[in-house]
Amino acid sequence: MNFAGILAGGKGTRMGKTELPKQFLQLGEKPIIIHTVEQFLISNDVDKIIIAVPAQWISHTKNIIGKYYNNEKIAIIEGGSSRNETVMAICNYLNQNYKLNDDDVLVTHDAVRPFITQRIIKENVEYAKEYDAVDTVVPAFDTIVESTNNNTITNIPIRDYMYQGQTPQTFKVKELMKTYESLNDEEKKVLTDAAKIYVLKNKNVKLVMGESYNMKITTPYDLKLANLMIGNKVNDID
Ligand code: CTP
Repeated sequence: MNFAGILAGGKGTRMGKTELPKQFLQLGEKPIIIHTVEQFLISNDVDKIIIAVPAQWISHTKNIIGKYYNNEKIAIIEGGSSRNETVMAICNYLNQNYKLNDDDVLVTHDAVRPFITQRIIKENVEYAKEYDAVDTVVPAFDTIVESTNNNTITNIPIRDYMYQGQTPQTFKVKELMKTYESLNDEEKKVLTDAAKIYVLKNKNVKLVMGESYNMKITTPYDLKLANLMIGNKVNDID
């Protein structure tokens, strides 16, 4: 089976003071998370959708999802204390509720990237069967400058080899659990990106091209931009 894990367990602190965590804020006529979930609901490549949110937002999520869909494809669960822990909470839920096979796939996607496309979902699912994992990226258009001392340049990597990470990141569920469990607590803290865990374990992570508009809504500026992108008039959120 192909599962989608919608990562909505964060607090959205960089969005500033808002009534709701950013994933529940309005984008045009619907909450951001509804735009995102919708793309997975209409996908023929996804069998079930697991949405992970902070414990205190589970009933709110059930209400808004219930307002838009009455769909057996969707489950809502509690996320974890970090993004990786949220991914693991979804894996554990799948492990407890399904008899998992080695080739069952989990497409993990940030709830706050509502402009995900059907092509990106499809390619993630297809390549996850062939490679160990899949990461969605866009080529770096700006030169990337490295400064390991945060003061002066220590390296300027060749731009043609540089990409910016987006989501989805896609894995075979059982292999992801096994790989994550092989890390010690220190590694778990440092490895904030699930694809990085695979790179360090010398596994093959296939690149799927994202889209520049598959943006992550992080700040109030991003939300304004996202509203402009869907042709909505821009309201200040504070
Ligand atoms: N996320 C998650 N569980 C966490 C932390 C983050 O599922 N414990 C999710 C967020 O809800 C978001 C995605 O990971 O959809 C990308 O993370 P980010 O933009 O950093 O979200 P927040 O952690 O909410 O934002 P901030 O860092 O500003 O608090």
